[in-house]
Amino acid sequence: MSDVTLTLTINGDAVRLKDVSPTMTLLEYLRNSSRVGTKEGCADGDCGACTVAIVAEGADGKPHYQAMNSCLIPLASVAGRAIITVEGVANGALHPVQAAMVETLGSQCGYCTPGFIMSLFTAYYDRAVDAFSVEGNLCRCTGYLSIRRAAALVNDALPDLLDDSFATQLTQAAIDATPLNYSDNEQQFYRPTQLSEVLTLLQQHPNATLVAGATDLGLELTHRRQHFPVMVSLEAVAELKRVEQTPEAVTIGAAVPLSHIETNLHGIFPSLDEMLHWFAARQIRNRATLGGNLGTASPIGDLPPVLLSLDAEITIASATETRTVLLAKFFKGYRQTDLKPEEVIVSVTIPRAIASGAVRRLSQSYKIGKRGTDDISIVAAAFTIDLDASDRIVHARLAYGGVAATPVRAIAVEAMLIGQPWTLETIQQIKPTLRSAFTPLTDLRGSADYRKLLIANLFEKFFVECQSFSCLK
Ligand SMILES: Cc1cc2nc3c(=O)[nH]c(=O)nc-3n(C[C@H](O)[C@H](O)[C@H](O)COP(=O)(O)OP(=O)(O)OC[C@H]3O[C@@H](n4cnc5c(N)ncnc54)[C@H](O)[C@@H]3O)c2cc1C
Ligand code: FES
Ligand code: FES
Repeated sequence: MSDVTLTLTINGDAVRLKDVSPTMTLLEYLRNSSRVGTKEGCADGDCGACTVAIVAEGADGKPHYQAMNSCLIPLASVAGRAIITVEGVANGALHPVQAAMVETLGSQCGYCTPGFIMSLFTAYYDRAVDAFSVEGNLCRCTGYLSIRRAAALVNDALPDLLDDSFATQLTQAAIDATPLNYSDNEQQFYRPTQLSEVLTLLQQHPNATLVAGATDLGLELTHRRQHFPVMVSLEAVAELKRVEQTPEAVTIGAAVPLSHIETNLHGIFPSLDEMLHWFAARQIRNRATLGGNLGTASPIGDLPPVLLSLDAEITIASATETRTVLLAKFFKGYRQTDLKPEEVIVSVTIPRAIASGAVRRLSQSYKIGKRGTDDISIVAAAFTIDLDASDRIVHARLAYGGVAATPVRAIAVEAMLIGQPWTLETIQQIKPTLRSAFTPLTDLRGSADYRKLLIANLFEKFFVECQSFSCLK
């Protein structure tokens, strides 16, 4: 046990905690401390009932209220942070987002309502209240129409100048990114601020668990009750939070939240834009990172197919070496990667150049799930085709998730496409080979046959859409 306390601000009150597990979730802490307005629905990031607003750096580098799922956040990850829960929203009178929900009858049983209020609250201070503001919130009894009406009402009545106490607090907010070394009950939680410190810690503790947004690891805490003796948080490490753009490439730090990538790199890679749109929901994208999506090595991770189709490479560091690996060589087997225990993913680099001899690039991605937002892919696909002046294929990348033990490229089919004309006939000829390129599994989400159909048909969809759609870069 250390003498270090965990300090948070909850609804303006400073809270100092000792003798609490660093991996207790923020939701558990809130509810154990009688802040029971924040609800637990699923405890796995899906329903949004546990949504709170946390002051965090936005894509513009300034402090914003951001909606996050408290059920997935280890308490130590929010040390030094300011948190607003539903109890803190009404400041003498109903907050405008609460008043709108009352007016449009946006609540029946009320279980989901605190989560909706907090999502609308964060959108209010971002001056962008719409149906997407609540994409990560589920309601099972009111019906979404009245909740959407509430969002529209708030948006229509947004004042020109937001100058209430929450807006003022935001202008004065500083986001704590100081180092932390907290321990309790044989659990150690480090939050270093420099990459060199991360690498030294990994050398000292080869079995340490890296944690970024905890949107995957959080499930290990809540559902599997897993014990992590040593955790090293990456979210305050400056070197991992940079995005660099050069004429040749875009390099994204491993710990950059996906919502920042979504905003700051919009319009550069159409397939990345598209996949980020369908990636989980806002609360998750505000926490999840690229490093976590690759580090977790899920065969149904959505960003690996996109990055494979763009020939991305990843930079990996340990205390003794920094190396670069093509993403195509990174995944070694089911949930296995090329990473050694003492290594960390530093960044992902996506080249901008199209193939030599090409005059244009077509690129797009597709996610097939059972519902639009917040769902796991049945199959994800991303395609990049470079064409020469006579519309012959000079470069092809067809990458998939959900069809094998790892994210994969259809390398044999890519080779067959080179030199072929970019026509529907070419696509039709290649489809039978594509259908039998992988041997996907049947599971609850879809049968092997359905997946095989998707593997081929999504490529045809890509061809058709590229005739009129935004696949062109
Ligand atoms: C409700 C919900 C919806 C989701 N929807 C999607 C979805 O649509 N598509 C999708 O692909 N995923 C989805 N996920 C999974 C998850 O959000 C992503 O995999 C996310 O990118 C993980 O990032 P993170 O920063 O939260 O990782 P963490 O949970 O912090 O870490 C995940 C793993 O990666 C390791 N790791 C993290 N950073 C690094 C690094 N820099 N170097 C080495 N290892 C590292 C960790 O040790 C851990 O093993 C969803 C999860 C939830 C809970
Ligand atoms: S309890 Fe459902 S998202 Fe957290
Ligand atoms: S009001 Fe009952 S779940 Fe939404």
